Amino acid sequence: MKWTTRLEIDHPIIQAPMAGVTTPEFVAASTEAGILGSIGAGYLSAEETRKFIREVKERTDKPFAVNLFVPEQVEMQQLYLREAYEALQPVGKQLGMPFWKTPLSESQFDGQVQVVVEEGVKICSFTFGLPDEKIVRLLKDNDVYLIGTATTIEEVKLAEQAGIDAVVVQGSEAGGHRGSFAGEVVLIQLDELLKEVLAAVKIPVIAAGGIATKERVASVLASGAQAVQIGTALLAADESGAHPVYKQAILAADEGGTTVTKVFSGKAARGIRNQFMLEMKDTVIAPYPYQNDLTKELRKAAAQQGKSEFMSLWAGESVHLTTKGTVKEILAELYNPL
Ligand SMILES: Cc1cc2nc3c(=O)[nH]c(=O)nc-3n(C[C@H](O)[C@H](O)[C@H](O)COP(=O)(O)O)c2cc1C
Repeated sequence: MKWTTRLEIDHPIIQAPMAGVTTPEFVAASTEAGILGSIGAGYLSAEETRKFIREVKERTDKPFAVNLFVPEQVEMQQLYLREAYEALQPVGKQLGMPFWKTPLSESQFDGQVQVVVEEGVKICSFTFGLPDEKIVRLLKDNDVYLIGTATTIEEVKLAEQAGIDAVVVQGSEAGGHRGSFAGEVVLIQLDELLKEVLAAVKIPVIAAGGIATKERVASVLASGAQAVQIGTALLAADESGAHPVYKQAILAADEGGTTVTKVFSGKAARGIRNQFMLEMKDTVIAPYPYQNDLTKELRKAAAQQGKSEFMSLWAGESVHLTTKGTVKEILAELYNPL
């Protein structure tokens, strides 16, 4: 069976799950355009995930994916956390916030998996790790198609061994967080990684990172990838939930304007270079998810004040190619015939 037929999509394209950016309208518009829409549910609670799924279902009858963050166990010392908080003070002051709350988040991963099953979602994708054996079995018993994320050949092999059905291969060009989960974060360009991976594994490979033109979509598909996953090129779409200031920064970004940083969340992620990154470059950074919790209120205030210099402006290396329009209009420029 053709891979697209298995996933009940018309075109070999996945709308990248983008936690905090994907809205029900965005996911439904992608799904209705004939590609695989994905809910970026990483930061949601189990019940918020259910609500989001239902809102997408109200807008489309077609299948879509739910994307989850696989939690990691991180040891954290109070003293270190305090130092990381202190290091953020200069940014806080510039936002008029000498103090701010930093409630620590708790993963609701198991509850979200349960919701995926209960709501009859047919595709579930993962980043930051792989689900354990019990969860893989539960999802497969419920006919859920599983998609992993990998940034190295080792991670692709681990996904295959874990029984994952397909894997997103995330090149170094990609916007947002690195999906890395085994060993040090390494930055390998998509073409190099793809070449290695396609020769080594049997499961379908989905290519992600910097794909933002019709020519690039065509060449990546011709190289043997089953599909492409597109994030940054859709960020400024009408249906995207990206903050208006963030959209403006995306549309104004120059080539070469992004970099990989851990300062916002404690995990490596690619975004538009700004003052926050510069000021925090050589300071104490707590590991994910603690740094993310520490900076959450600051980022929220920055958005409210329209200060993109202190927001996390996640975007990939092809950000300068991002255009305005509806999801459907943007996709029509990337794939022919849509
Ligand atoms: C704003 C933003 C948020 C993202 N959030 C997620 C996420 O929640 N889950 C995930 O698996 N990948 C996430 N990613 C990574 C994408 O899945 C994908 O790897 C990336 O967008 C591909 O590169 P591109 O942005 O150059 O198209 C995000 C990317 C961006 C730009």
